Amino acid sequence: MRKNIIAGNWKMHFSSEETKKFLNELVPKVSDAKCEVVVCPPFTSLQVASDILKNSNIKLGAQNIHFEEKGAFTGEISADMLKSFNVSYVIVGHSERRSYFNETDEDINKKIFTCLKNDFVPIFCVGETLEEREAGKMKSVLESQIKNAFLGVSKEDVKKIVVAYEPVWAIGTGKTATSEDANNVIGFIRNVVENIYDKEVSENIVILYGGSVKPNTIKEQMSMENIDGALVGGASIVVSDFESIVKF
Ligand code: 13P
Repeated sequence: MRKNIIAGNWKMHFSSEETKKFLNELVPKVSDAKCEVVVCPPFTSLQVASDILKNSNIKLGAQNIHFEEKGAFTGEISADMLKSFNVSYVIVGHSERRSYFNETDEDINKKIFTCLKNDFVPIFCVGETLEEREAGKMKSVLESQIKNAFLGVSKEDVKKIVVAYEPVWAIGTGKTATSEDANNVIGFIRNVVENIYDKEVSENIVILYGGSVKPNTIKEQMSMENIDGALVGGASIVVSDFESIVKF
C-alpha cells in the first residue's frame, strides 16, 4: 500500500506572523487526517512553523536546498540548516525553480543525493510545458527529467523519493489536468521508473499530482489508481481549502 500525501507548497507567501496565525488555525482542523500532511513554508517561516508543528501530525517541508554542505553560496540554504528545524521533506526541481532560476537536471540530481544523504524525503517535481505537450514531446520531456534526476540513485534509495507530476500549464492557472489525464501520465511515469529499476519500485514509489488542485477536484483525483496525493499551491494557503483537500 502506497502512502497518501497531501503537501502544501506555500511558495513566496506568509511572513512568520502570518505563518503562526495560519498554522494555529490549521493544526486542530487536520489532527485526525488519514493521510500524511506536509506544509512547505518559506525559509523565514521554518522556525515558527517547526515550533508550532512539533506536537502535531503535520510534517514540515522546505521549498529548496543547496547541494553543497557550506560555503560561499549567497542566498542559499544547506541541509544542516534545514535539519535544525526538523524538516522532513524538501521540494526539489519545482518548475518555477527550473524556469526562473535556471535549475538544471544536474543540479536536481545533486539535490536529490543531498536529501537522501540527510534523510529528507525529496518531493521531486516533473512536468511538461504547454508548448512541449502540444508538440508531442510530453513523454520524452518527462522521461529525460526522470532519468537525469535519478542518475546513480540506487534501487533502495529511489523508493524513498516522492515524485510530483506538475504539468506547467496547470500550475496557478485554474486549468487542472483532468483526473484521467493525470492518471494516465502518472502511469507513464511509473513505466519510466519500471524501465530504469523494476516493477516492484514502480509499484511502490509515491507519485503526487500538482497543478490547480482545489477542494472540488481532489476527491476524483484521489480515486485514480496511480495518484497517491497532491502537491497544492494556491489552495494550500487558505485554511478551509487545505483542510477540505486533506480530508478528500
Ligand atoms: P497551484 O496549486 O497554485 O496551481 O500550484 C501548484 C504547484 O506549483 C505546487 O507546487
